Amino acid sequence: MPERDILAIYHQPDYDIKIWQEWLDKINRRIRLVPIDAPEAQEAEIIIAWAPPKGALAKLPHLKGVISLAQGVDHILDDATFPKDLVLGRLIDPFMAQSMAAWVALAILKQHRDDATYQDAAKKRDWIRIEPKFASDFTVALLGMGAIGGHVAETIAALGFNVLGWSRSQKTLKGVTSLTGIDGFNQCLNKADYVVSILPLTSATRDLFSAATFKKFKKTAYFINCGRGLQVDEDALIDAIDGGHLSGACLDVFRTEPLPPESPLWAHPKITIWPHVSAQTSPITAAEQVMQSILNILDGKPPVNPVNIERGY
Ligand code: GLV
Repeated sequence: MPERDILAIYHQPDYDIKIWQEWLDKINRRIRLVPIDAPEAQEAEIIIAWAPPKGALAKLPHLKGVISLAQGVDHILDDATFPKDLVLGRLIDPFMAQSMAAWVALAILKQHRDDATYQDAAKKRDWIRIEPKFASDFTVALLGMGAIGGHVAETIAALGFNVLGWSRSQKTLKGVTSLTGIDGFNQCLNKADYVVSILPLTSATRDLFSAATFKKFKKTAYFINCGRGLQVDEDALIDAIDGGHLSGACLDVFRTEPLPPESPLWAHPKITIWPHVSAQTSPITAAEQVMQSILNILDGKPPVNPVNIERGY
């Protein structure tokens, strides 16, 4: 039997532990994953997780670090008992950036190319033609231009749209006008036909998309959210669409997930719902960096993509 001498907790309930174990084994057979409620979990030095149960990390006496199985770490940091001496790493995975870019392109293009109208007509065997629209006449604002957002912005620019990108610091990206600060944010909202949010959830972005914010959107703008649901006042979004200010929305994230069956968002004719799958984690592409982060943390080094815990990403 190969030696197995690193014990790590795995906690992502909707992904099978066995699949991750197999992928980690392919790289290095020293790691044994256990569920958070296994008796041996008490001995673990590392946890790899999406959203560990609140209070659980503080109770693990040997824990040195946490590796997020997602790009966002809000589900880990929203635990008031998160031990401040732990190091935290997140995923930055080119496959996930590509997947997000494809999803945002899909959301924009379905709207821009009148997909719903054509498909409705096709169901009636109706051969219709709508006047063409030119991407260069439309502006897309990308809010959040980190490792993922930057790639998304360049992808959308390559489709011919005018792209404004808003981020904390100035960026140089092909075909993208970089904007910062509150003036930059307002400029994005005033000018964009498509407002796409990929922002991380932090105290600065929670509830950002309120009724007041939606009023700043250009009339008929379309809202696309693949950041976090807690950034959006969902009632205000419905009001903005029903009031004729926004033309609709495509949402991949929600205040409560899974989206409760009674949510009015499901049945809204101008809102498209996705079940938080715009950029899914896969061990096929992520296991290598998770493994490296585990080894780094045990070696007293930072994980591959360290999180600034104060900043929240
Ligand atoms: C998914 O939501 C992620 O943060 O990767």
